[in-house]
Amino acid sequence: MNSKPIIFFISLMALTLVLVVIFQLKTDPFQNVPAKTQQEQTVSHQADAAIGLFSDNCARCHGSFGEGKGRNPSLQGNSLSHEEIASIIRSGRGEMPPFHKLSDEQVHILSALVEKMQ
Ligand code: HEC
Repeated sequence: MNSKPIIFFISLMALTLVLVVIFQLKTDPFQNVPAKTQQEQTVSHQADAAIGLFSDNCARCHGSFGEGKGRNPSLQGNSLSHEEIASIIRSGRGEMPPFHKLSDEQVHILSALVEKMQ
């Protein structure tokens, strides 16, 4: 009995299998996941910026999550409007100092964060 064709067939199958596995490993599994849209990138960039600004300027008094600290009030669950928050940041209030060094853009980003604090 001549077994050569069978051996040839099995080798071919094994080779195909190896090639498929190599191809799978080399293919980036996330390549079909669509890249973030411009808007999503802007939103996540703003969120990073907001958290950075908050920890640099506000967290020492209001806590890392705006939960309040000592005599400094919690900002969570507040019912202030965006404009009210922006004005408090710009002008200060009571023992809270005004933040003159923050740009309009930074005040806007911070107000949006504080407005949403739950
Ligand atoms: C030196 C401590 C201190 C820092 C720093 C500080 N705050 Fe305040 N903040 C206070 C105090 C004290 C009050 C309460 C003021 C009052 O009504 O007498 C307050 C009040 C507020 C209020 C009003 C809360 C309410 O419910 O009426 C907001 C909003 C606020 N701060 C946001 C911020 C943001 C945003 C930053 C960072 C840019 C910041 N604060 C930095 C001490 C601070």
